[in-house]
Amino acid sequence: MAKKKSLFECQACGFQSPRWLGKCTNCGEWDSMVELNSEQIKFIEESKKSSFNKIVKATPITEIMQDDIDRFSSGSRELDLVLGGGIVSGSLTLIGGSPGIGKSTLLLKIAGNLAKMNRGVLYVSGEESAGQIKLRANRLDVNYDNLFLLAEINLQYIMQEINSKNYNFVVIDSIQTLYSEETSSAPGSVTQVRTITFELMRLAKSLDIPIFIIGHITKDGSIAGPRVLEHMVDTVLYFEGDLNSELRLLRGFKNRFGSTNEVGIFEMSKSGLLDAKSVAGKFFSRDKLSSGSALTVIMEGSRPIIIEIQALVAEAYGHPKRSSTGFDNNRLNMLLALLEKKLDLPLGTYDVFVNISGGIKINEPSADLAIIASILSSYRDRELSSKTIFLGEVSLTGDIREVTALNQRLKEIKTQGFTKAVIPNRPLEETTIKCYIADEVSKVVEWM
Ligand code: TYD
Ligand code: MG
Repeated sequence: MAKKKSLFECQACGFQSPRWLGKCTNCGEWDSMVELNSEQIKFIEESKKSSFNKIVKATPITEIMQDDIDRFSSGSRELDLVLGGGIVSGSLTLIGGSPGIGKSTLLLKIAGNLAKMNRGVLYVSGEESAGQIKLRANRLDVNYDNLFLLAEINLQYIMQEINSKNYNFVVIDSIQTLYSEETSSAPGSVTQVRTITFELMRLAKSLDIPIFIIGHITKDGSIAGPRVLEHMVDTVLYFEGDLNSELRLLRGFKNRFGSTNEVGIFEMSKSGLLDAKSVAGKFFSRDKLSSGSALTVIMEGSRPIIIEIQALVAEAYGHPKRSSTGFDNNRLNMLLALLEKKLDLPLGTYDVFVNISGGIKINEPSADLAIIASILSSYRDRELSSKTIFLGEVSLTGDIREVTALNQRLKEIKTQGFTKAVIPNRPLEETTIKCYIADEVSKVVEWM
């Protein structure tokens, strides 16, 4: 008699091994190997076999017909923007974010918007009871006949329901609470999350309905282990924002149907997460600046946004601490080293903390100059003018480099009532903003 085959899979990274291992040799996780059942082993073997026997033939690109992308509006200007122009039929989208940031609130509102437009919508919740969702629905004012709720965690039952009616839009809240009978591992484990996502992808494509899945991110930024879902879905959007402020940013990380440049900006209000009415002017205060504060303008997708940067430089007791929120720590260390070297600041004996207000994360180097200005301002305990904007990328040699979209940024600076800007080079277009040119770090001091 043939010996029974066994196969083990790591719940953290998906590594497979014929033997059980106390520690996964791939990702180093302890006690993460789970034995697969005979059905699962058969499935894996069949899928390997089928790819060997097939005869394939490539087609010249000129003979291939283009797939038309069918989009419809979600009823939210900001969500449409991040998605690249609306929801794509048959697509699978992942919305991630930390607990409490507003994922369920946003998607219930979107579900309501679509139901109002006479589309059949199913909201599946594995986290809350239908009664709890109803409470939220009352708050969001989304009581429409076309919006159906299903409190269920069994994927097979959920798929039955989706197949049974002509839904146009489905929300799964959240992927980590669902389980599929096809695998024996616990809800939220990598095998479960992967199996369920795979099934939902097939369903979305075969029925041509968009499915949005919610995924919680743990503190270290991973969705159920090492972001296993990201490569499987069509679109990945992440919520960012400070839970203490009402502003939330929805950023595209992957989009098979559009660019990932745009950022959606929402405001949490009594009646849910709404499109931010006017983005400008939300991320800085117009009052007099305190020492340690500097203003800059960053590009979030196609939109320039003025933000406030705060720095605190204080004498260190013991080993000096360097920490930043919303800005890359390594880059902060680089800027501090540059200040020590070029301006002879004895920062080695100071703690330095940097914070970007409004929960924004800076992903472009154009804010370097403003970071430097805020650090200098705190170090000298002298406030900067609240009418001045700092703009420029700082290189390792201390040169200040050009930034992209300078004219667009200057226009925003003017619209918001600022009069002065410290920038790396003369703008090509005429502007009424008074521009001071700082082409190297030491010049910044002159214009502060
Ligand atoms: P929620 O959508 O439940 O977060 P997630 O699904 O990402 O875990 O949002 C929870 C927070 O939103 C909660 O702290 C209360 C707040 N909230 C409002 O401020 N206004 C509202 O209308 C709703 C429904 C929630
Ligand atoms: Mg939720």
